[in-house]
Amino acid sequence: MTEVFDGDWLDQREGFDAQARSPELALMLADALPARPRLLDLGAGTGSLARWMGPLIGRSQAWTLVDADRLLIERAFVTISDRANAVGWNTTWPGKRTLLVHSPRGTWRIEGLQADLRAIPGSLPLHNIDAVVCTALCDLVSAAWVEKIAAACAARRLPFYAALNVDGRERFIPPHPLDGLVMGGFTRDQGRDKGFGGRALGRQATAALTAAFKAQGYEVHHAASPWVAGPGHSEFAATLAWGHAEAAMNALPRESARIEAWAETRERQAVNGKLQARIGHTDLLALPPK
Ligand SMILES: C[S@@+](CC[C@H](N)C(=O)[O-])C[C@H]1O[C@@H](n2cnc3c(N)ncnc32)[C@H](O)[C@@H]1O
Repeated sequence: MTEVFDGDWLDQREGFDAQARSPELALMLADALPARPRLLDLGAGTGSLARWMGPLIGRSQAWTLVDADRLLIERAFVTISDRANAVGWNTTWPGKRTLLVHSPRGTWRIEGLQADLRAIPGSLPLHNIDAVVCTALCDLVSAAWVEKIAAACAARRLPFYAALNVDGRERFIPPHPLDGLVMGGFTRDQGRDKGFGGRALGRQATAALTAAFKAQGYEVHHAASPWVAGPGHSEFAATLAWGHAEAAMNALPRESARIEAWAETRERQAVNGKLQARIGHTDLLALPPK
């Protein structure tokens, strides 16, 4: 079954995602693309990657936002249009399913595609795009899925970019005696089948993508992209603590009481400006052989 993602959670994390992703890797991708690149954004959610990467590409471009969740795709269109208008850019709707954002450095064409990523490559229009991109997706997928996307990209010599893959380096500061229990449960939950045909890769996503694309002759680049929620970000730090706790309780239901007590302590620390959270991620860019 496909996991359901809350649009409000995606909105809450957008600023932290934007701070975390490596602009160097995105610019390296932008340099490798043609004059008016066409990008296929897998698991696009509310379109945060297009909002972040669009200005870095800095020229006319086309995005197809792929997601199983129709409501998230609709929200993506509204959010992209609202944010563009908020900075004074005009937006037009040439058709019901197409949004044009008239940025000062070229027009962005935005389209949506409701599709199930379990059915790749058949569910994807890979024949008329220039790159496959995604953010916060690949720790949900299975090893078999990674092999399939790498083979599909290689067949068309398409670059592949995957931002914000968790790397297992989670740290809440100050330390708490139950950190090990919570992180252990959280890690176990990350491996649960998230609907991509096998165990989810979790912290192994970057290694699996690297091996699969290297085997296809790709050049693979990495960059660290941690979320850093300091004392000034109490709401996000508390949300992260509860997110970890809920996943840990899912994996270790008998430990629910202790894990909940950990989360309550962490929330109090966050409210008092005493909690810091650092959640490690890695961005990856795989470029086809020249
Ligand atoms: C963690 S969210 C990331 C969303 C967005 N990329 C972002 O970072 O804000 C994962 C996204 O993948 C989508 N998704 C999960 N499983 C899917 C599937 N089998 N087919 C298509 N989309 C899927 C979800 O609906 C969700 O929007």
